[in-house]
Amino acid sequence: MMQEKLIKAAKQARKSAYAPYSNFKVGAALLTTSGEIFTGSNIENAAYPVTCCAERVAIFKAISEGFSDFEAIAVVADTKEAVSPCGSCRQVMSEFFQKHTSIFLSNLQDRTITLTMEELLPYSFHKENLIDK
Ligand code: THU
Repeated sequence: MMQEKLIKAAKQARKSAYAPYSNFKVGAALLTTSGEIFTGSNIENAAYPVTCCAERVAIFKAISEGFSDFEAIAVVADTKEAVSPCGSCRQVMSEFFQKHTSIFLSNLQDRTITLTMEELLPYSFHKENLIDK
């Protein structure tokens, strides 16, 4: 099943996280509408704000390779409940995802919450807002 496959890929990607400062490893797996999977893990930096979250690594990898139509993303961390993406990642997802794009949030025990983009970031600021004045 697509959800299980993506969560498995996100767990695998999490293993390559570079998180020596927070020790909080995150993995993400992004499915394109044409079936490719792009993975990402969080990459921290001694200058803390330079850190990039797993979700954004996966999305930026895909965009930079010419893929911009997405079906779903899975995000996994070692949290008690399903991991919750940060605000910056929600905004980046909303730039590239459709309102109905599936978002699978999970943890190492497979406690999973499934949301749509619209549910994860309702009433978002998006490109149409720049011209709808
Ligand atoms: N982090 C992610 O990669 N994704 C999230 O959804 C939440 C936070 C990372 C950023 C940082 O490396 C570490 O987790 C702690 O905030």
